[in-house]
Amino acid sequence: MSRRRILVTSALPYVNSDLHIGHLTEHIQTDIWRRFQVLRGNEIRYFCGDDTHGTATMLRAQKEGRPPEDLLAEMQRAHEADLNAFGVFYDRFSNTHSDANRALVAEMWQALRSAGCIEERDVTQLFDPQAGIFLADRFVVGGCPRCKAPGQYGDNCEVCGATYEPSDLVDPKSAISGAVPELRTHRHLFVRLEPFHDFLAQWSQTPGKMPPETANWLRNTFLSAPLRDWDVSRPAPYFGFEIPDSPGNYFYVWLDAPVGYIATTKEWCDANGERLERFWNDPACEIHHFIGKDIAYFHTLFWPAMLKTAGYSLPTAVHVHGFLTVNGEKLSKRKGTAIFARTYLDHLSPEYLRYYIASKLSARVDDIDLNFEEFTAKVNADLVGKVVNLASRTARFVKGRALPATYPAQRDGGLFAAGAAAAVELAEAYESLDTSRAMRTIMALADRANEFVEAQAPWNLKKDPAKDGELLEVCAIALNLFRQITLYLAPVLPRFAEESARLLSLAGGARWDDATRPVAGTTVAEFRPLMERVDPAKVEALLAAARAMADEATGTAGAGAALDAGEALAGEPLAPECSIDEFGKVDLRIARIVSAKAVPRADKLLELEVSLGGDERRTIFAGIKHAYDPETLVGRLTVVVANLAPRKMKFGTSEGMVLAAGPGGSELFILSPDSGAKAGQRIR
Ligand code: 2FM
Ligand code: ZN
Repeated sequence: MSRRRILVTSALPYVNSDLHIGHLTEHIQTDIWRRFQVLRGNEIRYFCGDDTHGTATMLRAQKEGRPPEDLLAEMQRAHEADLNAFGVFYDRFSNTHSDANRALVAEMWQALRSAGCIEERDVTQLFDPQAGIFLADRFVVGGCPRCKAPGQYGDNCEVCGATYEPSDLVDPKSAISGAVPELRTHRHLFVRLEPFHDFLAQWSQTPGKMPPETANWLRNTFLSAPLRDWDVSRPAPYFGFEIPDSPGNYFYVWLDAPVGYIATTKEWCDANGERLERFWNDPACEIHHFIGKDIAYFHTLFWPAMLKTAGYSLPTAVHVHGFLTVNGEKLSKRKGTAIFARTYLDHLSPEYLRYYIASKLSARVDDIDLNFEEFTAKVNADLVGKVVNLASRTARFVKGRALPATYPAQRDGGLFAAGAAAAVELAEAYESLDTSRAMRTIMALADRANEFVEAQAPWNLKKDPAKDGELLEVCAIALNLFRQITLYLAPVLPRFAEESARLLSLAGGARWDDATRPVAGTTVAEFRPLMERVDPAKVEALLAAARAMADEATGTAGAGAALDAGEALAGEPLAPECSIDEFGKVDLRIARIVSAKAVPRADKLLELEVSLGGDERRTIFAGIKHAYDPETLVGRLTVVVANLAPRKMKFGTSEGMVLAAGPGGSELFILSPDSGAKAGQRIR
């Protein structure tokens, strides 16, 4: 088969957030596919980068008192490093605020203009008179017009599920400044999509362009009616590219984000003496996007319309995955289920996650659950119990010896040949993203190989010097089956494959077809443990760390009432009844605040040192930074929970809780006793 030329992308992560397990799932899926293509000998280039523009970036940079470019550079480095740590490597990882992107966006815009697809219309929207900006839905907070739950953001209610216009919220406030927003009108630019209707219907319904679920969803939800125009401009101030022929207006982040795929390719081409046309204007080059289902809309309607208008290649395929849940829960920073890449790395091996994800994913758009019990069981049973075991209990008997000059096929009961025959099915499974099927097939091969080892019992052969030739042959078979299996696992576990090559003294750079040719004559090196069992205590520690980070983010670590604005009121259940005995377990004490300081890089936390009378001192992290200037707290008496179990946080251990009341943010009030009370006194 001729060598394919392929360009592959994962969705560009937003620059504003640290990468979590949801991002990792997608990038690992893409990387597995990329590595498979490399093994097959295809030319494949993988491009990605940060999605940088929008109000959120602008506000964060303002808050941190630095230019957005600073923030971008820092986050881009951190994102790429996180992904590399999971074995995901790009030909280039860039960002959308580049000169290359600016130029390409301008070119595409000109093409849309020339095609007569741009229209102007007035848009009336909530405006924050204090911050001087129009408010995107998620920057408006207020009461649900239906169930009256307070603290609802944007255009839907988390409590009753109602959807509405943000201007319908009861008592709306700007989430940026707290000001009461007002309706204002501004002229916006729109891309007309209806002229692309027939093209999009034809393209999206072509088999293989996207999963059937996505194609059906497009047909039923969008293509069954005239396509709505797309509002692509945002008035200043906005962090982005100013629209060349509409001063004071900026391209909406989603217009320039996917152009970043091409811009990154361009940067890589320029640095490597290649031509962009070879990738984006050549029918011989395949273009594959990997995305989540929440952004299918942008990649299957707007993006192909833009590409077509500007004369670039259309995607060969848009691969869409479902959402990830963790232990059955939606990813939520507040609940600690949005496990960050760095938190994971502090506790567990990235290879566990690569394998687990591969064993769960298929080409379907189904959501998948990261269940940590299953994760532990799968890694331990499959990788450690089946694959590593195969080598660990045979290699040591033949360490330093040469494998037989001819592979002893007559003795293996057809196992190697059966494994070689599986190459076709496995390649098909990898190619079609059905990695869960591939992992099942590989583990079935491992089962059979282990049965062979059990039956041949090399540990018994070892005892009888007369059986040395037999021992060598049995181990050669087991090690060859091990190598075949690890080669098949190589797209998922590249380090494993390298180790297996090393064990048999083979050079790196293996190819897929090597799995069909047994190794003979090379020397067996010393076996090094390839993978440790997953330690459930480490999983627990990871989950605890993720929860602690969630507490920091919401400020619930050391101040009972310091929840996010709204969160305390909206949907927080009333505490259940508690008996006097239960209440008696809580050791509430008067404490004197001895010192107080802001925790750098923690949005809401103050680090307090409190005295409980005598020599007894405690460190407490309290989420009250927005409500108190630390200096004003020093010397004050307050009330603390003194027997709360210590909680380990990123910045140190919190040894109690300061009691405070109020909705949160700057409206928090720590409790103080009447004068005369003394530090250390118990509250009764
Ligand atoms: O949903 C997201 O995370 C977006 N930042 C993805 C952008 S993908 C592409 F279009 F740039
Ligand atoms: Zn509601």
